Amino acid sequence: MNQYVTGAVIKQLREKNNMTQLQLAEKLGVTDKTISKWETGKGYPDITLLEPIADAFRISVTELISGNPIHNANVSANMMRSKFYVCPVCGNVIHGMGEVAIHCHGIQLEPLEAEPSDECHMIFIERVEDEYYVRIDHSMTKEHYISFVAAASSGDMQMVKLYPEGSAEARFKIRGVRRIFFYCNRDGLFSIDPVKGIDDKESGYDDSKERRELEMTADKLFG
Ligand SMILES: [Fe+2]
Repeated sequence: MNQYVTGAVIKQLREKNNMTQLQLAEKLGVTDKTISKWETGKGYPDITLLEPIADAFRISVTELISGNPIHNANVSANMMRSKFYVCPVCGNVIHGMGEVAIHCHGIQLEPLEAEPSDECHMIFIERVEDEYYVRIDHSMTKEHYISFVAAASSGDMQMVKLYPEGSAEARFKIRGVRRIFFYCNRDGLFSIDPVKGIDDKESGYDDSKERRELEMTADKLFG
C-alpha cells in the first residue's frame, strides 16, 4: 500500500452520498468530531475502519484508498471496452471488461491508453484461412520486447503472451475481431483496426475509396 485514505476523499465521498458528518459517524461508531478531524487532516481513521468506511460509501477498500471510485455505466460490458493494466514491476497483465481499481506490487495500476501503431512498432496482419496471422516488427530482447498481443471482438478476447527471445507473432481466429492490441514493455499499448491493417484482396481494404483513388492516380502517373 503506497497511500492511505485522505480526509479530502472521505469528505468528497460523504458529500456525494448526501451524508452528514453525524450520519457517517453513527454508521462507523465514532463521533462526528472524529469525522471532522479526518476531513480537516487532523487525524486518520484507524485501519480497522477502512472496510466499514468503504461499506458506508458502497465502494471497495481499494477504491477508497485510491481515492478513485470506479463507475462502469454498462454492467453488461462489451469486450470492445476492455481495459488493460500492466504492472511495471513484474509485467503482470490484467484485462478488465471495464475500469477496475487494482494494485500489483504496491502500485495502483492505471488503465493503458492505446496509441495507433507507429513506425517503431509496425504491425503486419495477414489472413491465413480463418485466422489472422499477426507479426510485429520489433526487438524481442529482455530489455525491450512485445509482451502480449490481443484480438478483441464484441464477444471475446483472444490474448497471446509473448516472451523475450521469442518471436513477435500470434494467430487469432478472425471471426468478429474488430481491434488488435499489442503491448511494448517500454513504449506502451498500441492498437489497430485489423481490416485497415491488411493488405489483401479479400479484406475489403482494396475496396476503400482512398485505395481506389491512389491506384487511379498511380495509373495516370505511371501508366
Ligand atoms: Fe518498443
